Amino acid sequence: MSVLGVQTHAWPVRLAHWSMALAILIMVGSGWRIYNAEPILPFRFPLAVTLGGDVEAALARHGDPGVATAIAWHFAGMWLLIAAFLLFVIYGVVSGHFRRDFFPVGPRAFLHDFTAALHFRLEHRLGEYNTVQKVFYWGVLAAIIVIIVSGLAIWKPVQTYPLEVLFGGFQGARIVHFLAMIVIVGFLVIHLALVALVPSTLVAMITGRSGSPAPRNGGRP
Ligand code: HEM
Repeated sequence: MSVLGVQTHAWPVRLAHWSMALAILIMVGSGWRIYNAEPILPFRFPLAVTLGGDVEAALARHGDPGVATAIAWHFAGMWLLIAAFLLFVIYGVVSGHFRRDFFPVGPRAFLHDFTAALHFRLEHRLGEYNTVQKVFYWGVLAAIIVIIVSGLAIWKPVQTYPLEVLFGGFQGARIVHFLAMIVIVGFLVIHLALVALVPSTLVAMITGRSGSPAPRNGGRP
């Protein structure tokens, strides 16, 4: 271990991770503002947690409560998310990061780690993920694919007609898009709670290094 500590996360992982985090925050905030204009459930999100500029000014300018601005944010976030997701997945496959750190994920190991987590006995070693974490990461990556594909079906319903059929029509695609958002926001809440429990992981995800003893995988990213 050098004076700088061991390498825990390579820069492409950190760049992709923080870009995905920013993109998700932009997309969720602006998505909630767009949803509010035509809710599919009997509630609206509080304006304060939505993104789309000043409602009064937007009403005066375009006659809508900031939906046009929210859509612009949503598309900007979408390109960032797609680029960051591709970087994360391509790097994960090519560098061997997925093979080394995101596998194995067998049901027995999951049950073992899940039970330990429920009893607050699950250890966290920097640079090494337990099976519950691995399953969560695969789950959120899958939800991101679903949210991108269902979003494309909503954006371009004619050009992506086979997707419309897959989701059971435009409204079906909206519902799937909404459910994927719930999965991602749910992941984020648990993810942030776990980061708060082990704050040293945050330092490692920002700097790429950890001052703790070398992890079992030898500190590979
Ligand atoms: C916005 C606030 C976020 C913070 C503060 C945060 C923080 C962190 C930290 C500290 C780690 C390292 C965990 C460890 O070493 O045990 C991590 C890993 C990870 N996070 Fe986040 N995260 C955030 C948002 C997100 C979002 C929105 C996603 C999903 C798109 C995400 C997906 C992941 C994944 C997949 C990993 C594993 C990275 C790898 O090693 O390849 N995170 N996050």
